[in-house]
Amino acid sequence: MSTVDSQQRVLSGMRPTGRLHLGHLHGVLNNWVKLQHEYECFFFVADWHALTTHYGDPAIFEENVLDMVIDWLAVGVNPGSAALFVQSRIPEHAELHLLLSMLTPLGWLERVPSYKDQQEKLHEKELDTYGFLGYPLLQAADILIYRAGHVPVGADQVAHVELTRETARRFNHIYGREPGFEENAQAAIRKMGKKSARLYSNLRTAYQEQGDHEALKKAQALLKEQQNISIGDSERLYGYLEGGGRMILPEPQSLLTPTSKMPGLDGQKMSKSYDNTICLREPLEQIEKKISTMPTDPARVRLTDPGDPQKCPVWQLHQTYSDQNTRDWVMDGCKNAGIGCLECKKPVIDAIIAELEPIQKEAAQYEKDPDIVRSIIAEGCETARESAKETIQEVRDAMGLSNW
Ligand code: TRP
Ligand code: SF4
Repeated sequence: MSTVDSQQRVLSGMRPTGRLHLGHLHGVLNNWVKLQHEYECFFFVADWHALTTHYGDPAIFEENVLDMVIDWLAVGVNPGSAALFVQSRIPEHAELHLLLSMLTPLGWLERVPSYKDQQEKLHEKELDTYGFLGYPLLQAADILIYRAGHVPVGADQVAHVELTRETARRFNHIYGREPGFEENAQAAIRKMGKKSARLYSNLRTAYQEQGDHEALKKAQALLKEQQNISIGDSERLYGYLEGGGRMILPEPQSLLTPTSKMPGLDGQKMSKSYDNTICLREPLEQIEKKISTMPTDPARVRLTDPGDPQKCPVWQLHQTYSDQNTRDWVMDGCKNAGIGCLECKKPVIDAIIAELEPIQKEAAQYEKDPDIVRSIIAEGCETARESAKETIQEVRDAMGLSNW
């Protein structure tokens, strides 16, 4: 705990189930690029998670793992700022998943909304499996093994972070208790020195008696500064703030990814399952063709028929890619039949090409030399494993597995 500043740590994962597209870029990826400057970031390929639904399709990993990391790199995720790694290379995730499974009530997993939803949605697959039920718990292990404080996710994943919080709480409740906790905590307070000790106690009282969240934050910051207390004492003091016992696994928070307004070619959300995507590495001529032939307001049969941008998916693309001037030009030209649809699409085509061309150039460099990507991943795995090992050791200790 004293070596990990949870509040500074961000973790997120992505399943390697297909090519990344503009929806990913404008949702998750640009957000990652921003976060990597503000936090200590861990980003990983969730290959085990992909296996829960695609266990019958081992080829997806061969096709997608390296390519996905290439896309991350090409859009500006920087291995100097973020550890990029692959879940299945860090077996500690699996060990923590197993250990947590011992104390996770079945009902918690059965109640997660994505469980039934996905089973129904993917009804052609056999998803009545142990692994699929455990999906959110595996995700909890991913997060807790790094003691990450923040987890950037889409709205569909918030319930999984919530389960992670419950799991951490239950773990701390069961294993953070020790005989003489109160006395140990008091002794730890004294080790901080008079001034800090008094401040800590006052802040703790303010939080516990008045629910003052600012005081809680200040007390946590105070603990972070302490140089000469041990990891165990630090955990006691974090835990003592909020009641209970030692805080071995800190509770993370979800960092809701701003929803991408990127529409697909048909105006619905861009998604592989709607077959309406523009992939990051799609040939530029093909992109041009796709946009040129995408549907517009059906009222505009002839050039002289006026239209309404509100009824046209191209207008939504202008929201992302065009400035006010161009948007005024579209609005006016469409309503007054002053411009043709192809003419209207031109600035969007140009903007998407301008956005993707440099990304594709970067990606091509990595494609030519995949060993560079492999070594970036190997390095990311090293960083991840170092941190994961520390946590798993503490978890084993707390569960009594090391004490014989
Ligand atoms: N379940 C996530 C998704 O489908 C991927 C994921 C796996 C993840 N482990 C994670 C995301 C840990 C955040 C943190 O998008
Ligand atoms: Fe859509 Fe533009 Fe055609 Fe209007 S002019 S229907 S906004 S493509």
